[in-house]
Amino acid sequence: MCGIIGYSGRLEAKQVLVNGLEQLEYRGYDSAGIAQITKETIEITKTTGNVSVLKRKLGEKETIASHCGIGHTRWATHGGVTEENAHPHQVGKVTLIHNGIIENYKKIREDYGKGILFHSQTDTEIAAMLFDSFYHGNPEEAIWNTVAKLEGSYAFCILFEDIPNTVYCIRKISPLVAAYAKEGAFVASDITALIAYTQDYFVVPEDTILVLTDEKAELHNRKGNIVEKEMLHVKWDFTAAQKNGYPYYMLKEIYEQPEALWNTVAPRIKEDIPDFEEEQIPDSVFESIKQVKIVACGTAMHAGLIGKVLIEKRVRLSVGVEIASEFRYASPIIDSNTLVIVISQSGETIDTLASLRLAKELKAVTLGIVNVKGSTIARESDYVLYTHAGPEIAVASTKAYTVQIAALCLLTMRLAFVKKTLGRGEITRDFALLKESMECVKRSLLLEPQIQEMTACLTDARDLFFIGRGIDYALSCEGSIKLKEISYIHSEAYAAGELKHGTISLITEGVPVIAIATQESVFSKMVSNIREVKARGALVILITKESMQVEDSIFDYHFTIPEIADDYTPIPAAVILQLIAYHTSLRRGLNVDQPRNLAKSVTVE
Ligand code: M6R
Repeated sequence: MCGIIGYSGRLEAKQVLVNGLEQLEYRGYDSAGIAQITKETIEITKTTGNVSVLKRKLGEKETIASHCGIGHTRWATHGGVTEENAHPHQVGKVTLIHNGIIENYKKIREDYGKGILFHSQTDTEIAAMLFDSFYHGNPEEAIWNTVAKLEGSYAFCILFEDIPNTVYCIRKISPLVAAYAKEGAFVASDITALIAYTQDYFVVPEDTILVLTDEKAELHNRKGNIVEKEMLHVKWDFTAAQKNGYPYYMLKEIYEQPEALWNTVAPRIKEDIPDFEEEQIPDSVFESIKQVKIVACGTAMHAGLIGKVLIEKRVRLSVGVEIASEFRYASPIIDSNTLVIVISQSGETIDTLASLRLAKELKAVTLGIVNVKGSTIARESDYVLYTHAGPEIAVASTKAYTVQIAALCLLTMRLAFVKKTLGRGEITRDFALLKESMECVKRSLLLEPQIQEMTACLTDARDLFFIGRGIDYALSCEGSIKLKEISYIHSEAYAAGELKHGTISLITEGVPVIAIATQESVFSKMVSNIREVKARGALVILITKESMQVEDSIFDYHFTIPEIADDYTPIPAAVILQLIAYHTSLRRGLNVDQPRNLAKSVTVE
């Protein structure tokens, strides 16, 4: 959940660390800090607040000149948001930063920390104490001895007082990537922090120590032997991870959707039907599949809800969509004839990863729909279908969601082809419909001025409801999470027919209801539900297809998407919901990209 960076090289460490932290800030922004090392000293600067506060603090003091250091941006887990709890932590000769949770920290404190005065409430300071207690001049020995005692998840970057110019790193579950470029050696929680220097990097394997000096980024195993690196390359560059003139990453990412969708879909199409030969997903994988489970969290899980509708309708396989944090502790009924699709933008979400591991244990065939190349979920899934959205930095997921839906559409078509539930002609037609819906995203983007104006009526809302039926209900779930996470308005998504079973008692004069009614098969039912809420004074914001006839009396605002097939409406309609959330948040004067209490990748439980 936190962002970490380490550097050793010819550049000024302070600058590299701060620049890297700015790129990693989306992983946590409660507090930030850096430690720089020279032959003479280790200097720590840390503060509550985000990286701009740290920058100010660094600007106000005379810092040492150093070419090696570590930096951290925190999302608080153990201990409140205080300067003492901010990283780096220092005990004896050890200074370190940490992403993860040490579950047995109390026991370690009891066993090894007697008589030591701790300055923070963090598990990290206790880990620092343990490293220090095992350190007698041999850093790698101290690291192996320490991690043997730790339970939980961690990515550590460690400085030893008497070894200047060197950063030692080790990880378990929490991610770390590293690179060596002409400016020196780098390590970080993800590639966005390194992209200013290189597009080539490697994932630090678990159970391996990474050693960074100005001359190398080297992996060592327990015996001290060098471990071969598996190099990866990202196609996007530094500019893709910048705001490029947009006020917020979220808005930029909303506008990147036409390209992201195209990049995800185009490479998979051969003779107008999806083909996963390049991904090395043979058709034989799908042949024996008798049921599908889709497992994910948050927005990715909502994409799964759309996938369920598509697969059940076209492939006639039963599909369960599961919240990963529930699935991992449940007793799922799955076997080798089950296809478990795990969806994750980051590829690092801890509950999704644990679910993937459980599914593999139960012998299911696993397929990851993942955006971040080389991420843990991508590496551990039997098969991977990458979405090519490019870096998504805003906490609120936008382009990752629509490309996940597109990937699920492709998967549905291939499954239908293999299972022969649709003929080639039908699949070709389906693909044309998908393309049409992707084209319609541009039309939704043109609605931004009207959406911005409309959101004036939402600024003071306390509660808000999204309603829809079928695939529109699945989309309502996404609209609701988007709005609440960045505007802090309480919102809920309801299957429109379910309202009468309780929730309608909450609809009173002026309560906003966003009604998504794009499905022709249930349109008249939706209109009745809208009438019901209108009759109770709701302020109705309606989303339909252009051709759908609605009386003026049932809505206050009306946005439309073009005439496209029912199953493909979520892609353009999602864009309208994203813009509603974005402008509502802006009107409420909030930081759209960094909503309170949230971080982009949830890598701790
Ligand atoms: O990286 P993942 O796709 O696995 O992340 C899953 C959720 O944490 C994520 O979609 C979250 O719900 C978003 N902040 C919603 O906008």
